[in-house]
Amino acid sequence: MPEGTAPPTRRALRALVTAGPTEEPIDEVRFIGNRSSGRMGVEIARALAERGVEVTLALGPARVEPPAETAQLRVARFRSAHDLEQLLRARLAEFDLVVMAAAVADYRPRATACGKLRRTDEAMTVELEPVPDLLASTRPLRKAGARVVGFALEPAERLERSALEKLERKDLWAIVANPLETMESPDISGMLFTREGRREPPAPRMPKGEFARWLAGEVLA
Ligand code: CTP
Repeated sequence: MPEGTAPPTRRALRALVTAGPTEEPIDEVRFIGNRSSGRMGVEIARALAERGVEVTLALGPARVEPPAETAQLRVARFRSAHDLEQLLRARLAEFDLVVMAAAVADYRPRATACGKLRRTDEAMTVELEPVPDLLASTRPLRKAGARVVGFALEPAERLERSALEKLERKDLWAIVANPLETMESPDISGMLFTREGRREPPAPRMPKGEFARWLAGEVLA
């Protein structure tokens, strides 16, 4: 390199990791939610930040403590699928890597009642509408060449078949398939599927932190 020429600076990779459940309001005090703890996504965000990636963690109303923010790891909060959709629409194009570990609702109340619904002796019906598939519907907003990793939570007997179908339908680089027992557990029995085939983690069942470090290595390879 000629003297006085600065070495080319390599910009750090930017990653968005989504984690946790969504809460879909019925009225101003009640919601429909799910049992996702948020732990897997938080661990993935940490593992990527440890490897020098600039991480934004989009964290829902999770039961785990949000990680402390650092220059390497920023936290943005969301509550409903609508909030997360807004965040994705505003910021998806910034990221070289997207890991969508959030357990986004598939249905939500069509309307949110004002205040608190009163109890009566009558049965009550809450009409639900489908939530758009955020991964698939924001496809055109992805940065060119971005690696997008989805999650598939499935009963063990159709884990692989469903994961491969979602990999295709959501146009992903890879998908982590994990059985329903992963929810609320400190461990995961996960498997990674890419277009090239299956990648096995070092152990069939691992603490989520260890699995996250293995996954970070795979997606950054
Ligand atoms: N996902 C999404 N938008 C939704 C629901 C899910 O972007 N409304 C994402 C999840 O974050 C995950 C992936 O899609 O990365 C798969 O989620 P999963 O719940 O397993 O699959 P669905 O597509 O919702 O299909 P189904 O519920 O029928 O299994």
